[in-house]
Amino acid sequence: DWTMNAYREEAIEKIRATVGDSHVICGLSGGVDSSVAAALIHEAVGDQLTCVFVDHGLLRKNEAEEVVTMFRDNMNLKVIYADERELFLGELEGQSDPETKRKIIGRLFIDVFQKYANQIDDAKFLAQGTLYPDVIESVSFSGGPSVTIKSHHNVGGLPEKMGLKLVEPLRELFKDEVRVLGRELGLPPSFIGRHPFPGPGLAIRCPGEITRAKLDILREADAVYIDQIRKHGLYDDIWQAFVAILPVRTVGVMGDGRTYDFACALRAVTSVDGMTADYYPFSHEFLGETATRIINEVPGINRVTYDITSKPPGTIEWE
Ligand code: XMP
Repeated sequence: DWTMNAYREEAIEKIRATVGDSHVICGLSGGVDSSVAAALIHEAVGDQLTCVFVDHGLLRKNEAEEVVTMFRDNMNLKVIYADERELFLGELEGQSDPETKRKIIGRLFIDVFQKYANQIDDAKFLAQGTLYPDVIESVSFSGGPSVTIKSHHNVGGLPEKMGLKLVEPLRELFKDEVRVLGRELGLPPSFIGRHPFPGPGLAIRCPGEITRAKLDILREADAVYIDQIRKHGLYDDIWQAFVAILPVRTVGVMGDGRTYDFACALRAVTSVDGMTADYYPFSHEFLGETATRIINEVPGINRVTYDITSKPPGTIEWE
């Protein structure tokens, strides 16, 4: 892509001119935006970039390992793996209110990021994968934080607090352009095409109280569901797909016995920007096969439902 290649060269020059000999830190979430920003900055300043990947214990199955391996081993970036699972899950214990859960996660995320960033000498810049739509959204509200119905989890206020300047090399791009740039930078297509994943992670897919046991069940069920979607070649037609584990147990029969396990909901939507969404019209055959697989393969779940709510009035996530 000629245009994107020109953009890339120009962005690299700009990053070098801005950063000089200083160090840049970047919060790597595993999402497309922060990943492309990190890859671009790495190409510009190499080892002057250190990424911090925070594991809050609310990631999908194998996610931490996959992201860290890809960036550290395949792309040679410096990545600090911050295992803070105990901290996050401990503080979330007993909390069931959606906004309280988000606030706890947001606050801890900033504390943790700051702790690791402070260990990096010479850090003067913080890299963020801010896109053009994020820029317009915040500008149109007179420079304040973007207005959303749910408090979104980001590192707002962090740069000032830490005395860091921002580097936002994707500020002029739309999401589809970021994907093109990511491919140019050598990120695997399967990674570039990943569905968006919210900052608070599985916390908002486990409505009500979070327990380690529920998270483990959720991770397994989600992995089976995504595997089904990929096997049927549907992944790229869907904006987001995930399982939510419901805060209710139901009675079932299995063999000669009675079960009393959790119910879960499958969610899959099509959308252009996440602002509105329609539920995905899976075939009954697909749904039946998926339900059977989840119940057979995931101990702890004995009932599967499909969420057919569009947005509005529903939201994409369950919390
Ligand atoms: P909703 O559920 O509001 O989701 O329809 C719209 C999009 O935003 C994502 N989402 C979040 N992302 N922090 C995030 O980083 C959050 O707290 C959060 N809540 C929702 C959601 O996954 C969907 O893509």
